[in-house]
Amino acid sequence: MNLEELKLDELRADALDKLRRADSEKALSELKTLLFGKAGTLTALMRTLKDIPPEQKPQAGKLINDVRVELIELCNAQEKVLHKKAIDAALNAESADLTIDKPIRAVGAIHPLNQIRKRLTDYFVGNGYIVYDSPEVETDYYNFQALNIPPDHPARDMQDTFFINDGILLRTQTSGGQVRLMEQYKPPLKMICPGRVFRNDDDSTHSPVFHQMEGLVVDKNVTLCDLKGTLEGFAKFIFGDDTVIRFRPSYFPFTEPSVEVDVSCFNCHGSGCRVCKNTGWVEILGAGMVNRKVLENCGIDPDEYHGFAFGMGLDRITMIQCGINDIKQLWENDVRFLRMFR
Ligand code: DAH
Repeated sequence: MNLEELKLDELRADALDKLRRADSEKALSELKTLLFGKAGTLTALMRTLKDIPPEQKPQAGKLINDVRVELIELCNAQEKVLHKKAIDAALNAESADLTIDKPIRAVGAIHPLNQIRKRLTDYFVGNGYIVYDSPEVETDYYNFQALNIPPDHPARDMQDTFFINDGILLRTQTSGGQVRLMEQYKPPLKMICPGRVFRNDDDSTHSPVFHQMEGLVVDKNVTLCDLKGTLEGFAKFIFGDDTVIRFRPSYFPFTEPSVEVDVSCFNCHGSGCRVCKNTGWVEILGAGMVNRKVLENCGIDPDEYHGFAFGMGLDRITMIQCGINDIKQLWENDVRFLRMFR
């Protein structure tokens, strides 16, 4: 076989003609297989090189390769053109109708109780407290005895308890978290323990399930002044910068001394209104210095370490802030009610 018999010009003209007629990406892909595939025309042509007389080989090789490279480049260029054409066609066919009516998607909201919990948590975490989780199903020991409330203590009367069986109950307060934390970690300690608590109580301001947030700080040289400063900072953060607090003497078995903490009424600023029942003050939490006996029960030396603790009702604070009279509104999941606090 010699150079003329390869009919290179004819083959090239034929390929160019086919390329001109390949008007889709699919047709072009088929043409590429026809030319460059395993059984393709140009592949076959390369194979015939071995039959060319040696003196024609270099020239034949160059000519075949020139045609091959030219055809590859043309195919690639055509491929781009056809691809763009395909995209344009798809875009035209799929144009979006921006005026069409579509279903309105309901936007959810964070429950007011969770908004308050998050805000309080933010404040304390920002001040170096850890968030501690304590079990809802609790033993009598952690819920009462370790907190200096022995079996026949009258303070148990205030917390009408759901017992599961002898010694196991639904926690009536988050205060048990104090004991669990102190057993687990060495001071210095700063923690809050938010969570659900349970009592056999049911009226417009009490629900059998409600929420508390416990706070505990244990370190050397902790005083009642530290407690007051902490709670004042917290009250200003939640109720506004002009808020002041006051301590009233109280009693809790696990703190000594114990106090009830009031904030100046954020609604009327002291002049008297419905929120503060005309007193100018709103009670928000109980607190005190951790009782020596509680520290001892947790293996902490009360001569070396002191602590303060506080506990607040999250439902109560939410109700005061949102102006709600009936605690059930926090449970009923009435969407119209929840939307008001978006
Ligand atoms: N656990 C108390 C209750 O449920 C609230 C409380 C009062 C917690 C004083 C405290 C505290 O940590 O120091 O009524």
